[in-house]
Amino acid sequence: MTTPRLSRRIPDLVPSPIREILAVIDRPGMISFAGGLPAPETFPKLDLSAVPPECLQYGPSEGEPALRQAIAAQLRDRGLDCTADQVLVLSGSQQGIDLVAKLFVDAGTRVAVESPTYLAALQAFRFFGADFAEFEPATPAAIAGAAFAYVVPTFQNPTGRCLDDAARRALAAACDAEGVTLFEDDPYRDLDYTGGAHRPVCADLRAAPWIYQGSFSKTFAPGLRLGYLACAPEFVTPLTRLKQAADLHSNRVSQWLVLQAFGDPRRGARLREFAGWYRERRDTFAQHLARHFAGLARWELPPGGLFFWLELAAGAALDTRTLLAPALERGVAFMPGEPFHAVEQPRGAIRLNFSHAAPDDAGRGLGILAEIVRDAVARL
Ligand SMILES: Cc1ncc(COP(=O)(O)O)c(C=O)c1O
Repeated sequence: MTTPRLSRRIPDLVPSPIREILAVIDRPGMISFAGGLPAPETFPKLDLSAVPPECLQYGPSEGEPALRQAIAAQLRDRGLDCTADQVLVLSGSQQGIDLVAKLFVDAGTRVAVESPTYLAALQAFRFFGADFAEFEPATPAAIAGAAFAYVVPTFQNPTGRCLDDAARRALAAACDAEGVTLFEDDPYRDLDYTGGAHRPVCADLRAAPWIYQGSFSKTFAPGLRLGYLACAPEFVTPLTRLKQAADLHSNRVSQWLVLQAFGDPRRGARLREFAGWYRERRDTFAQHLARHFAGLARWELPPGGLFFWLELAAGAALDTRTLLAPALERGVAFMPGEPFHAVEQPRGAIRLNFSHAAPDDAGRGLGILAEIVRDAVARL
């Protein structure tokens, strides 16, 4: 049999624990804290009969002009100085990560990332050969020499933490001083349980180039696969060409549906209603955590987003990937913390999604998980 000649990059595709989780997640009775799934209760009721037939034709790579305008107006409200020409509609904001990786990363290109950070961004950057430099946003000296710094400043995945104004300013000043492009990923900002302005870090840049992206997955529906980016003018043409090569354009029916939502006067009230719903789920989850994990782990109440980040008292002595098989066997899925770091070594932390499991299941699942952690600690 002939051996296919694959790209030199393919052997670097390392297996991820997510595959193990996805293989069993739909098993009846499984309690999942693993994914970042928005709650189906928040999905909109769609009237597809009103979709104009022209949405079924090929469309512009950059996205529908009216949607780009609506997005640019929203970004200006957040403090970002941009016009519709600087906006690209994406097939999910995950596509933005892939396009930015293609735009910047060759083998050995230095990419500055938080530690921990969004694991699917690490995977995309790693695939193109990134050499990671880990940085702390409030003291970002380590971004020097990087092609870009990737940051999720608002309700981060996986930690849920939100950068304060001082940390945002420190990061923007460091990017300006070092001439490092800032890539700001902001899909969770509307899942806000405390209220606050959360000015984009890109809005405070004076000189450094920037790319800012958002998503309609968490506040509309992830199945529509729709996100967007806005960027400094010099990136518009290369990113548009990269998008053309990837998918020609994003789904026009999805774009039309999202545009209708932008024009809906009840949109603001709907977003506030969701945030209230998620806040309640978070608070119930926090009560279950206090009951089962007191003394076993430390955590903070996430001010927004979809996750709790638990730092286990056992610390880096415990490789949380070893907890996954016994947890899945007992019907509980969670995300080990190790793959959220550029260097995958034992970290003693886990990520728990609080929005998906029904509150009673969440309590039961956390009880099981705590037993598994306790057993593992006893064996250290
Ligand atoms: C930080 C971050 N960026 C990007 C994405 C991708 O989201 P989507 O492609 O659904 O817009 C996610 C998904 O969970 C995320 O957590």
